[in-house]
Amino acid sequence: MTTATRTNPLSYLTDQLDELKSKGTHFKLRVLEDEQAPVCTFDGKKVINLASNNYLGLTTHPKLREAALEATRKYGVGSGAVRTIAGTMKIHMELEEKIARFKNVEACVVFPSGFAANAGTVSAVLGKEDFIISDALNHASIIDGARSSRARILVFRHKDISHANGRGTIDHFKVHGRVDIQVGTLSKAIGALGGYVCGTRDLIDFLYHRARPFLFSTSHPPSVAATCIAAFDVLENEPERGEKLWENTRFWKKELGRLGFDIGGHATPASETPITPIIIGDGKLTMDFSRELFQEGVLGTGIAFPTVPEGKARIRTIMTATHTREELERALEVLSRVGRKMGIVS
Ligand SMILES: Cc1ncc(COP(=O)(O)O)c(C=O)c1O
Repeated sequence: MTTATRTNPLSYLTDQLDELKSKGTHFKLRVLEDEQAPVCTFDGKKVINLASNNYLGLTTHPKLREAALEATRKYGVGSGAVRTIAGTMKIHMELEEKIARFKNVEACVVFPSGFAANAGTVSAVLGKEDFIISDALNHASIIDGARSSRARILVFRHKDISHANGRGTIDHFKVHGRVDIQVGTLSKAIGALGGYVCGTRDLIDFLYHRARPFLFSTSHPPSVAATCIAAFDVLENEPERGEKLWENTRFWKKELGRLGFDIGGHATPASETPITPIIIGDGKLTMDFSRELFQEGVLGTGIAFPTVPEGKARIRTIMTATHTREELERALEVLSRVGRKMGIVS
């Protein structure tokens, strides 16, 4: 009698991982052991955190924590259904009304994530008779939405990176009234989780009926909705957080430039946001640099192909309102020392 041996049908995945390892761009997930803060512990090591999208430091704000706890005590831990079945709680409606007022628009819908908001909206409002003109470096969620809309897609070269904070891109570029659909995330500056779309009442009603992530994903736990409501109050009442973020960002870009790092503005566009890329080019060198920085107490995530084009690998550094000047100076010292040792700056 012979025993049948089953060959591994997923062995091609292992082959692809081996290829990443041979290129030096394979990564392990870094595990955070305490709060998302400017100095925190990843994989047992205390580091200065230059990798978080917690721009305004709201993930640990006492008012947001309290709002989450109170909502959990009052309403439980889950919503129990998708929005269209039985999962629309009063607190979800309150959040949508709050965002609509904040953005000065007629209406708003909240999705489970920013990814879902982009992908769900693009694929719902466009169809195969449409034509999409798309930035080459658009976020994967927009690309996926465009593809699943089945519209024709024309890609143009990237101009600038845009992670808005506070009142968002429309406010930043003063284009009020000229943008019909505004999409934002609640997972970064707002410090919690979710995505939203703002626009006319009819647009939002249409998305309630047609956006697939809205129709097919369970709504947020009440704690998340309550946290986001509290975050918009903080944005209104603590404008100094935004001011501090920009002050840190200006200091950081100036100092990185002074140390000789390529932060864009030549072969690649300059960033006007709290994210400053240190462009290195080679994927392996970038990942080695990131690992070496970590050993020296700085978390700066290496980003290589396919997240950015081949040959444009970079360390993505991100400022928050809660980094102190002393922490930034320490991080700059490490970047400069390790950068010189590895021949990235002279
Ligand atoms: C432009 C853009 N859209 C969407 C997202 C996804 O947002 P979320 O993390 O809320 O899913 C991101 C996150 O990096 C983003 O940068």
